[in-house]
Parts: sequence; structure tokens; C-alpha cells
Amino acid sequence: MTSEPKQKALLIEKKLGEFVVGEIDIWKPPPGQLLLRVQAVSLNPVDWKLQKRGVDEVPTILGRDFAGDVVEVGEGVTDFQKGDRVFVQAADVGAYAAFQQYALTLSATTAKIPPGFSYDQVATLPLALSTAYVGLYNNTPHGFGISPPGPGISADNAGTPILVLGGGSSVARLGNYLSYRNSVIQLAKLSGFSPIITTASLKHTDFLKSLGATHVFDRNLGSTELAAEINKVTTKPIQYVFDAISLPSTQKIGIDILASGGKLALVLQLAVDVPEDKTVVEILARSRVPSNIHLLEPLYHDKISGYIANGYIKPLTFEVLPGGLAGIPGGLARMEADAVSGLKLVGHPQETP
Ligand SMILES: NC(=O)c1ccc[n+]([C@@H]2O[C@H](COP(=O)([O-])OP(=O)(O)OC[C@H]3O[C@@H](n4cnc5c(N)ncnc54)[C@H](OP(=O)(O)O)[C@@H]3O)[C@@H](O)[C@H]2O)c1
Repeated sequence: MTSEPKQKALLIEKKLGEFVVGEIDIWKPPPGQLLLRVQAVSLNPVDWKLQKRGVDEVPTILGRDFAGDVVEVGEGVTDFQKGDRVFVQAADVGAYAAFQQYALTLSATTAKIPPGFSYDQVATLPLALSTAYVGLYNNTPHGFGISPPGPGISADNAGTPILVLGGGSSVARLGNYLSYRNSVIQLAKLSGFSPIITTASLKHTDFLKSLGATHVFDRNLGSTELAAEINKVTTKPIQYVFDAISLPSTQKIGIDILASGGKLALVLQLAVDVPEDKTVVEILARSRVPSNIHLLEPLYHDKISGYIANGYIKPLTFEVLPGGLAGIPGGLARMEADAVSGLKLVGHPQETP
């Protein structure tokens, strides 16, 4: 008698239950999909938030960002083959989630890892990158509605200022080889915005400037002080504010500094009053929401490998958690306690004891 092949996964077995490492069957890829051996995952705030909020359908598996090897291709897949090294923004929880040793992915949203880059490096990118990409390039009301950069890099927004609140966050950054974070700053640079003004802990100043920020101000400044600093940098109206933190305090600063007719992008729900002459866009970065498919499929399937290979988008700095899947809950607890700064946490599911 032969038994089904098994794998280890980080399970949530009941609503509001803790993460536990368990053993489950390995998935079979349906038509158009791939089975990946997951080599590296990265952790995101949504992972601990979902566990704390309570997932409706249990048991389940979480985790948004992963990289690995194609080990099986579903019927009809012609663009990938066994052995390809790829990375992914998870299409869903469960079979498609990151925190397991083998996971499914849709070939249409899967990206090839460019030569010379590690699983760890590229696993730092997807959700933070998608959030920045959707916020900048999706149509309003989903994003600012500016044109995404083409293969040659566009400078459509040359001379247009942008303010990025929370340059220290992953969404805001999207660092270089040695660092991590701030997708918005890197993409804003690609799109030609200038000046690119950001707020952060000032210890990140040199790094954020290396990504493309032109001016970095202390994240503790209030609206009036920040507006005074910005007035010394540009006299142009601030038509775009990307709030990569979106706490009520930063939303209020964003609304105060935004010029009449401008747009404020939020990564969390709106929590402040908005005057009629200003527009707020609430970003939903999930890869399979209908409003994102036209934007994110081409980004991952066709563009991102080239952007990384050419150095336009740089992976983020990271720390590898010991213990494989068993090390992930401790990493999520550190994120919840706001004890991770300027660094992406990465796990290796194959190293699970
Ligand atoms: N809507 C969506 O689909 C979506 C997708 C992804 C993420 N999100 C949300 O976006 C938020 C950011 O996610 P992330 O992955 O970028 O988080 P993260 O990397 O964990 O961000 C942490 C950093 O935020 C900075 N920060 C915290 N409070 C700040 C403040 N008041 N002003 C300026 N900077 C502040 C700190 O930077 P310093 O080191 O500079 O102090 C801290 O290191 C989370 O709430 C997440 O849930 C939403």
C-alpha cells in the first residue's frame, strides 16, 4: 500500500487559534497552476492581524510572500517547467499560502527569479511591492491612476512632488540589496516624481535617499511643522500623498498637507474626515481582486524579473528566522510588538524540524 505524500504546514486549526506546525497532504496543481517547493517566505503585518482577528474558514494556512522551485505543472501550462526558480504573491490562503513546504500558484501571476538573486531576496518583495504598485498605478478609486512605468522607464511625472508618509515601512520602501523597504519610493523614482519627500525615523535617512527619496523628515513632526519643512523644498502644491502607515494620526497629516484636488492613498481604512475637494483611495493589494488583475498579472508574469535584473527594483534587507515554519510565530509576534525596524523577516519552510 502506498500513502499520499505529506508535507509540514503552519496551520490555524480553529478560529482565533494559535499557529501550530502540522502534517497535511501535498496539493495537486489544477489546470493552469503550478506546485512549488517553498524555499523562502517573508512575513507581513497582515499575517498576524488575520490570526488575531480570526479566520472564518479553518483549518487554514496563511502567508503572502514566497519563493521556490516548480516541482509539478498543471495541464495547459506552457510558460513554466519543472525546476524553474520562481516567486509569488499568494493568490489566496490555504493551498495558495506561503507558510507550508509545498504551495500552489497560478502560472499567470508567477514571476521567474532573475539569475544571481536568491530565494530570500525575492521573497521580501511581493505584497509590499503590490501595495505600492496598486496605490500608484491602479485607476481611482483603487489608486492614484497614473501610468505604470513601461519597459524603458517613464518620467511622465517629472517635476511632480509626492509625499510618502512612513518611509520606514516595507510598503513605503523596497530597498537595495543590503536593505529593505519602501516600494513607493522606488516606484515614485521610476515614475519620475520629484521631489520625493518622506517621513521616517531619521536613522533611515541615508538609505531612503539611496532608494530615491530627495528629502527625509522626522516621522514625529506634526502637520504644521512638516508643512513648513516641505514649503522650503517646493512651492508646488502636493497633489499626491501616499500614507504607508495609515494610522489616524498619519491620515490626518496626509489630509492636512494634501493640496486641493489632490489624492491621498491609504493602506488601512479611512479614519478621518475628508474635505470635498480632496480624494482618498483605499488600497487593496490582494492579487486576485478583480480590480487588480489587469495590473498585477503583467507586473509579475512579464515585468518584475526584468525590473529586478536591471536594478530598477531592489530586494529588501532581511533576517532569516531559525526553525523553519516553527520560527514564524515568534517573528510575527515581534512585528506585532513593533520590534522590527528596517528589516524583513524571512523563514525557510524546508528547515522545519
Ligand atoms: N491595504 C493593503 O492591501 C495592505 C497591503 C500591505 C500592507 N498593508 C498595511 O500597511 C501597513 C504597513 O505594512 P508594512 O508591511 O509596510 O509594515 P512594516 O514594514 O512592518 O512597517 C513598520 C515600519 O513603519 C514605520 N512607522 C510606524 N509608525 C509610523 C509613523 N507614525 N510614522 C512614520 N512611520 C511609521 C516604522 O518605521 P521607522 O523604522 O522609520 O520608525 C516601522 O519600522 C500595515 O498596517 C499593513 O497591514 C496593507
